[in-house]
Amino acid sequence: MLPLFPSTARIDGSALTIGRVTAADLIAAHGSPLVVYDEATIRAAARAYREAAPDALIAYGTKAFPNLAILRLLAEEGIGADVSTLGEMRFAREAGIAGDRIVVHGNNKTDAELATAAREGALVVVDSLEEIERAETAGVTRTLVRFTPGIDADTHEAIRTAHHGSKFGLPAHDTIEALRRSPGIEGLHVHVGSQLLDLADALMAVDFIATFAAQARQATGWEWTTLDLGGGLGVATSPDEPELPIGEYVRAVRNELDRACGLHHLRRPNVIFEPGRSLVSHAGVTLYTVGSVKRVASATTYVAVDGGMSDNARPALYGARYTALLANRADETPTDVYAIAGKHCESGDVLIEQVSLPQPRRGDVLAVPSTGAYTLGMGSNYNVTPRPAAVLVADGVARVIRRRETLDDLLALEA
Ligand code: LLP
Repeated sequence: MLPLFPSTARIDGSALTIGRVTAADLIAAHGSPLVVYDEATIRAAARAYREAAPDALIAYGTKAFPNLAILRLLAEEGIGADVSTLGEMRFAREAGIAGDRIVVHGNNKTDAELATAAREGALVVVDSLEEIERAETAGVTRTLVRFTPGIDADTHEAIRTAHHGSKFGLPAHDTIEALRRSPGIEGLHVHVGSQLLDLADALMAVDFIATFAAQARQATGWEWTTLDLGGGLGVATSPDEPELPIGEYVRAVRNELDRACGLHHLRRPNVIFEPGRSLVSHAGVTLYTVGSVKRVASATTYVAVDGGMSDNARPALYGARYTALLANRADETPTDVYAIAGKHCESGDVLIEQVSLPQPRRGDVLAVPSTGAYTLGMGSNYNVTPRPAAVLVADGVARVIRRRETLDDLLALEA
């Protein structure tokens, strides 16, 4: 087992293999950079959720990596989808996910999004008071309301979502107003933030929402049948980061919910979880090819690779930290500490500030683990860079699940 890498990753002689396929061979066959997803790791994560919460709907946070093959694979494991745009909804439906297993989010849903949700019989999470009427007009029959409890989750401020003043959801008094106006609302939704690395925020969210549900019942007589606890379970992307196993997190949250429901004499709701990152991050490894290696100061040697912030903006956006190994020289002992630079035209395009490696050489293949979530899915064409391909590996076979963009693709958009 290689920490942070997919469960099938091995070092075989000098070569990193994933799903019994040699990383360097993947680059030779499919080009560079390349995002490699391991099927077994995705299935295991899906099963961990299903086993810990067999009666819950697990809806994949599609935004983490919207991809038909992965949505289909997750659907085979009994997973639905959380979508927040017409595009994500289309992907989920094309992958064969039934409308009643789709949860629709968005703080500014269009009429087309509401109409499509209505047509598909999806569950719509209302995000403002005015949306209640618009959803009804569009023919939406199943709704939750997103409640903002005012919790400052312990994560990067850009991915906190339930603090006072968040652009998402409704504060307590407006949530109560929503339940008065529309008593048919099935339940509540809460998502305190993403990349949560300990249990405290998730448990606090459960306590807040159960207390709120009891207050709402007292104020309006309304009771929930459904509780959507959002996503948020974090994953380690560098070796010194902590990580909670999926089963442990889900069981702790469910126990807390049972406790809180007992305390407030609340009906035990049908539960929904919306994991994104924790389903796909560890399954993904990004492979790059090393270009220039340049010593710029006594303590800094840049190893420049053929991708960067266009395929992984997370270091630049959130200060995310990653690690790497040389996939074609995986048996060699590290000799020094290197900075991994992207190829884009700005100084902030540094993927990894410090990583120990054997002296990298032009042409080496650099593998960055735990890059399956919010990387290619947030990719851009910055500097007119075609986005990389993605392959899915299993049992010695790789198949392209997203083809590499070409310059002709990009030119085709121009007038
Ligand atoms: N449900 C809702 C309503 C969400 O807003 C999100 C993520 C999820 C579920 C899935 O959360 P997860 O399990 O993946 O934490 N681009 C950022 C993450 C943004 C998350 C947005 N919402 C990043 O790269 O860290």
